[in-house]
Amino acid sequence: MRKPILAANWKMHKTIGEAVAFAKAFAPLVADVTGAEIVIAPPFPALAAVGAALRGTHVLLAAQNVHPEKQGAFTGEVSPPMLVDLGCAYAIVGHSERRHIFGEASAFVARKAAALLAHGVRPIVCVGETLEEREAKRTFAVLEEQLRGSLAEVAIEQAADVVIAYEPVWAIGTGRTATPAIAQEAHAMIRSWLQTSFGAAGDAMRIQYGGSVKPDNVSVLMAEPDIDGALVGGASLDAASFAGIVRYQEKSK
Ligand code: 13P
Repeated sequence: MRKPILAANWKMHKTIGEAVAFAKAFAPLVADVTGAEIVIAPPFPALAAVGAALRGTHVLLAAQNVHPEKQGAFTGEVSPPMLVDLGCAYAIVGHSERRHIFGEASAFVARKAAALLAHGVRPIVCVGETLEEREAKRTFAVLEEQLRGSLAEVAIEQAADVVIAYEPVWAIGTGRTATPAIAQEAHAMIRSWLQTSFGAAGDAMRIQYGGSVKPDNVSVLMAEPDIDGALVGGASLDAASFAGIVRYQEKSK
């Protein structure tokens, strides 16, 4: 069975003080949730303080990005050993904002994912089509290209440690969530690609959906067979809202 994984991607939001206040308010709201992995990805400056505030809880820490090299002359970048030092269990790579605003290509994402795995940090590898690509009926081709490129350096024995996040770009921050059927169709295609590439490990890999996930739409998305979690932006910035998403199973009852 795949353990659900609900992750907050705060993007470029929250000062250290705001981030710590969130962590202190949020942890007690989800202290009794044992059936899912709960992950928070604050911006880099808040990682240490949020990690300290979450110590002793089962909420895991993630980074929003990483550079593939261990160290060196890479001004403004952060390396995998630095994330290990901060206690990061996960790091997001290949987010559409990195791909589209900062021009990151799948080959670079592949190096990041491999570097994270080499240091014991699990990558959350994001893929997703733009509206233009969907309307041109290129969704599956784009997803395939991004998966092949971004996972090129993942060995079969490492695959189960990789999480995929399907985030259709047209659904991010727009309030326009993919319907459960549209999301499941993409997740099923991704699952089949993972099975072909990684065999049995492809069944064990978790695939998150991301794009305008809210407390009131998460449970119908999570009911789909190949949706194993959510990567949440806007609705993860408020502790009660993200706790409502983490507690999605109570919604369907
Ligand atoms: P929103 O939940 O704000 O649409 O953002 C989704 C996202 O990009 C998470 O990585």
